[in-house]
Parts: sequence; C-alpha cells; structure tokens
Amino acid sequence: MKRAWWKEAVVYQIYPRSFMDSNGDGVGDIKGITGRLDYLKELGIDVIWLSPVYQSPNDDNGYDISDYQAIMTEFGTMEDFDDMLREAHERGIKIMMDLVVNHTSDEHRWFVESRKSKDNSYRDYYIWREGKGEKMPPNNWGSCFSGSAWQYDEATDMYYLHLFSKKQPDLNWDNEKVREEVFSMMDWWCRKGIDGFRMDVISMISKTKELPDGPVTPGNLYGDFGPYCIHGPNVHRYLKEMNEKVLSRYDLITVGETSGVTVEDAKRYAGESEHELNMVFQFEHMDIGNNGTKWNRNPVPLVEFKKVMSKWQTELEGKAWNSLYLENHDQPRSVSRFGNDSEEYRERSAKMLATCIHMMQGTPYVYQGEELGMTNYPFTDISQFRDIENINAYHELVEVSGTRESEELISCFQYKSRDNARTPMQWDDSPHAGFTEGKPWLAVNPNYKKINAKAEMENPNSVFHYYKKLIALRKKYDIIVYGSYELLLPEDENLYVYTRSLEDEKLLVMCNFTKENRAIEIPQEFTKADGKVLISNYGRDNGEIKNLKPYEALVLIV
Ligand code: GLC
Ligand code: CA
Repeated sequence: MKRAWWKEAVVYQIYPRSFMDSNGDGVGDIKGITGRLDYLKELGIDVIWLSPVYQSPNDDNGYDISDYQAIMTEFGTMEDFDDMLREAHERGIKIMMDLVVNHTSDEHRWFVESRKSKDNSYRDYYIWREGKGEKMPPNNWGSCFSGSAWQYDEATDMYYLHLFSKKQPDLNWDNEKVREEVFSMMDWWCRKGIDGFRMDVISMISKTKELPDGPVTPGNLYGDFGPYCIHGPNVHRYLKEMNEKVLSRYDLITVGETSGVTVEDAKRYAGESEHELNMVFQFEHMDIGNNGTKWNRNPVPLVEFKKVMSKWQTELEGKAWNSLYLENHDQPRSVSRFGNDSEEYRERSAKMLATCIHMMQGTPYVYQGEELGMTNYPFTDISQFRDIENINAYHELVEVSGTRESEELISCFQYKSRDNARTPMQWDDSPHAGFTEGKPWLAVNPNYKKINAKAEMENPNSVFHYYKKLIALRKKYDIIVYGSYELLLPEDENLYVYTRSLEDEKLLVMCNFTKENRAIEIPQEFTKADGKVLISNYGRDNGEIKNLKPYEALVLIV
C-alpha cells in the first residue's frame, strides 16, 4: 500500500461558533481558536478541519456563504485568520478548510445578480425553472430542511432550486464559468497556504438535466431528489477537472462529504488512481436504524454496525482510503448514541468507542469535545433548538401536517439533533464552561462542571489522556495505519473483535459494547509469551484474560 502523510494523520474538527469565544459576544471566533492551539498540540492531532469561517448570514451556521474570500464578521478578520494559520503551522498543525460549493447563500453577489433578470450574466450560475402551473413548483422534490426544494421568485416569475434551505440556492455546475470561479477561489486559498479541503455535500453537485419527479415514500409530503442529484451524471468529470486544475498542484488532504455513497461509489471518488479525492465520508454506519426518517430513537444493533464497518474496511483495502468517525457537527454525541452516557459508564464507554474506531484502517476524525466524552444535551422544548433542520422539521411535521406529536418528536430530536454536537465546548468549571464571558449562542450542557477539558487534563485516567495515547500509538505503529483488517465473531451481539495484520505483526482489538461482563476466548496466537497489551481502558497489563468487563476495550499486539 502506498504511504501518504494524510493516511498517517489524525484530524480534529472545529465548529468555530462553539469552540472558544475570545470577545464575550457569546459566539466562538478565530482568535478563540488560536488561543487554544496549544491544547490541540498537547492532544497530538495533525490537522484541523475548520467548519466554515467565511462571510455568511448564518441561516445554516456558515454553510450558507455570501463571500468565499472574506471572514465572517462575527468570527474576526482575514488578519486573524492569517495569524491562526501561521500559529498552527508553527506547531506543526495543518488547516483543512470546509469547501461549501454545492450552493451559496442567497446573499452571495452571484445570486443577488442572478435573480435580477432572465438575461443577467449570472442567471445561469444557478438552477432556474418555470413552475408547472399556478403556484406549482417545477417538480415534487423536498429539501433536506423540509418544504419544497424550489423557491418561487417574483422578480422573474420563476423558481430556483435549493436542496437545503431557501437561503442556500444550488449552483449550476454544468456552467463552465461556475466551475472556473470555484477553482480559482480554491486556488486563492491554496496559495495562502491552507492544507486541504473537506468538501460539503460534494456528491450532489451534478444534477440530472431533466429534473424529473422523485419517488415519494409513505409519510412524506415531497419526492426524493436523491436519484437525480446524488452521484449525478457529471460529478466525477467535475471532480477530475478540479483535481487537475487545483488539487494536483498542491500537497493537500481532501475528503468529500458524500451522503448516499456505497463502497463502489467510494472507489470512484477516492480510488488510488482516480485522481479525484483522498477519501470520502460515508454515512452507512450513522444511518443504521433510520427507517425512512432520521427522527427516531432506534438503537444501533451491534451486529449491523460491525457488518457495515467491516465492509468498508475490507472492500476499500488497497483500493481507496477510509475516513473513520463517529461524530461531527451534524451528528449527536457518540457516547450517548453508541456507548452509555450514564455517570457510571460514560468514561469507559467513550474510551471503548475511541479504541474501536482508532484501531481501524483509515484516517481518524475527532470532533471537538469527543476527546472529553461530551454527551448529548437534555433538550425538552423546541425553543431550546437553534438548528434550522429541527426548527423547520418541527414546523412541518407538528404544525403543518400534524403527522408527529410534539413531545415524541422532541424526544427524537433530543436523541439525534445536530445541536447536540453544537453546544459550546466545555473548557473548565467556570460559568458557561469557560467558553464565553457573555451569553452563549446555544446553551452549555449542564454537566460541564464535571466534564471539561481542565478536569480531563488534570486526571491521568481521563478520556482526554486516553485519546492522547491512541493518537500517539498511531504515530508509533505502522500496523495501526496500514495493517489489514479482519472481523472475528461477526454474529456476536455484544462484542466487537477484530484483528489487524502487517507483515509478521498482529493486533487483536476487543471491545465490549455492553454493561455486562462477557466471556471471551483469546485466539491462541495472541496468548504466546511475546504478546503484550497495547492499550486498555481498565489498566490491564498482562495476565490471563477470560472475560471483558463492562465497556472494556483491550488491544493486544504480537
Ligand atoms: C452538509 C453540512 C451540514 C450542512 C449541509 C448544507 O451536510 O455538513 O452542516 O447543513 O451540508 O450545507
Ligand atoms: Ca466572539
């Protein structure tokens, strides 16, 4: 397998709005990040994935960009950005920017022009269509944030497409000028010295020309645009063009957010010889339990989870590269979803989950606060949410269609809302967890007095120190990066056990996903005298192992 620095790196995602506020306005900012770089250095990560910091009216917290070459006023200035980049580089930390180019904000200069008239030179930068009739959008597609994916615009009596909010009009990638603008903007950032791109919903940039109605699943008001917008007809052509014109000219880390991606698709986006991206984010493991709707409280059966993870591990081996994650700004907290966030088991299960993911083949991504074992927020009321996805879904499902009961839907939001990940980073036990001296834009989790970075750093047995150790091990052992993966006990509903192999070395990774003791038989090759414990969340060293304790994680190497 070919070596690459981005295969050996560990990435840390920062959601700037919630990371650190330096000026007391309740909103995280760039100076806040710069001030915490030493913390990240201590953790040992190599790359920061920075969620969007560009100028934005914040309809979707920066994923609606009105100027790609300016910094959001609330976050600071371009000078602050340059300082942060320099300070990060001085510490050996790279910066990967979020590239949001499936859509812009409706306040972007291009769209302001585009909506003016049918013959405006920017008209074709976006996707405009006539309605099917009086008050009838061009087709039945629903947007990801509820409602129709089409917005009527009076100025020209036409509709524009927005797969997300109506303040996020989709760019028309079939227009060569759009591609040129995007590529030259990317080039501008690369020349500034940034180190890579995470590409927002990049699998959706190419749409089927005819824009036909999509299938309607029972219980839904709108049709699914998926078959016509996800992995559309020209997506690979456009990415190859992007690679040739920009990516291949620099030494970057690139990862595509590709919802709906299968292993076969991933080999095209991130294949070793495809010249598109380094890797993609797949969502199959995050979507387990979703039966046509994200708003459920279904548990994640371990057998299914193992099946999905193992498929990605074995089928990309030698062909493409995996990204490894359980959290990001769009997902609830992993310890609350896959582990156990009770007082008794939170720490153990957070460490167990970290072991399970970090011992796999691929590039691990740590989301801010995951390294502290931060948990979901105890939401009980719709007024507590800030996320447009929840606010719109509540409106549509409870108030308009009446298909869901308020209380029941909120309990699903509590379990799955993106706002769980967006509550402020818990730095210490001072008011608002040390995140701000003002009033935070989204409430701090009330458990901050116990769960915070300061306490975690002081306690050598904390989740933080465990992450630090996992990251350090990856730097020391090639087998953790490059070893090939094999699942053991596929039908076991409680234990996740797998091996990694590289030349004459072998790892055995054992994780107990339950709060009971579980018997385990260690394969003979690992009981040999030269076998040793690489990491354990129970402080085991050597000795006979007959069972795994509640949420135990144990890695042996021979
Ligand atoms: C991606 C982002 C998400 C955003 C959406 C629209 O899925 O991760 O936060 O809302 O794209 O840009
Ligand atoms: Ca601020």
